Amino acid sequence: MQKILITGGAGFVGRRFCKRFLDQGAEVHCVDPVAEFTGGIDPDGGWPLFNPRDYDNFKFYQQDCRQWFKEHGDDDFDYVFHLAAMVGGRAMIENHPLAVADDLSIDAEYWQWAEKAKPSKTACFSSSAAYPIGRQRAEGYELLTEDMIAFDDDIGMPDMSYGWAKLTCEYLARLAYEKHGLKSACYRPFSGYGEDQDDSYPFPSICKRAMAHKGEDTLTVWGTGDQMRDFIYIEDCVDGVLQSIDKIDDGDALNLSTGIYTSFKQFARIAAEECGYEPEVIGLSDKPAGVFARGGDTAKQKEFGFEYNVSFRDGIRKALNLYQTV
Ligand SMILES: NC(=O)c1ccc[n+]([C@@H]2O[C@H](COP(=O)([O-])OP(=O)(O)OC[C@H]3O[C@@H](n4cnc5c(N)ncnc54)[C@H](O)[C@@H]3O)[C@@H](O)[C@H]2O)c1
Repeated sequence: MQKILITGGAGFVGRRFCKRFLDQGAEVHCVDPVAEFTGGIDPDGGWPLFNPRDYDNFKFYQQDCRQWFKEHGDDDFDYVFHLAAMVGGRAMIENHPLAVADDLSIDAEYWQWAEKAKPSKTACFSSSAAYPIGRQRAEGYELLTEDMIAFDDDIGMPDMSYGWAKLTCEYLARLAYEKHGLKSACYRPFSGYGEDQDDSYPFPSICKRAMAHKGEDTLTVWGTGDQMRDFIYIEDCVDGVLQSIDKIDDGDALNLSTGIYTSFKQFARIAAEECGYEPEVIGLSDKPAGVFARGGDTAKQKEFGFEYNVSFRDGIRKALNLYQTV
């Protein structure tokens, strides 16, 4: 039986990994304090898409992983999915940079623990926020390729303390391999979305607003609404990780992206169309919007045999169907 550790396992991404491995019969150790202002959900109330307490192979520790690392020295984990992070939506990243900087300590303590516990493989969740913001401006942007972060040459300024922490985690992953032989792969998800994502993220909030204003002439979105993101369905992200994790050992990074830019205005229009109306979409320029255009090149993912499966319109439809039933 495989033994899996998922830090931040009660969060949006973590719940999906828990489900995959619980269904396979693996022993899943999920460590998560269900931190305020994150997407974490207490398993005791059941999770939106399944109840982990239905599985005997689910072991939950409601605690900060840094404390858990001090108390557990298990040296027989087959895989660790290191997802624990103070993330929140854009407002959290912009307005609470020092709270988000906790990620520096979470990641440092992860690698210090790993040096002793020696898990067979770590999947480390970095982020597209690690990429240089200078390549994501309205006056000049391009699809981001993995080699645009070159630790031996040029790394560029990442997005706030969040991106900085992710960059540092990737650097530690490389050092952990070079100095201690610890095997890992670093993933840079772009805008992962799904039905059960926390409402502080644009995906559920735009879908729910499109539903709530059905039939009206206008619909509003954050920022100017022209800012563009690369939306990828969260199950596709999980597939991308599981298809590539055994092929990367040295902490090398892989995007999880579709290579398609969608502006918030386009997104809102699709959501409204799926609700059956065609409003004028207007940007509220006083809300945080982040970088102008963030999209991830897909060539390296294809080399690893991974391509996204769910189109953005289909993903929106899935979410609207679920929201209509609750
Ligand atoms: N969702 C995306 O599209 C996306 C994009 C880029 C990167 N990521 C990364 O993927 C990971 C998961 O993100 P998510 O979307 O599931 O966010 P989330 O907020 O839903 O989940 C993060 C989880 O980490 C937990 N956590 C916070 N501090 C912790 C600590 N000290 N110890 C243990 N757990 C702790 C939170 O309680 C929460 O359950 C994060 O590392 C995030 O940076 C996600």
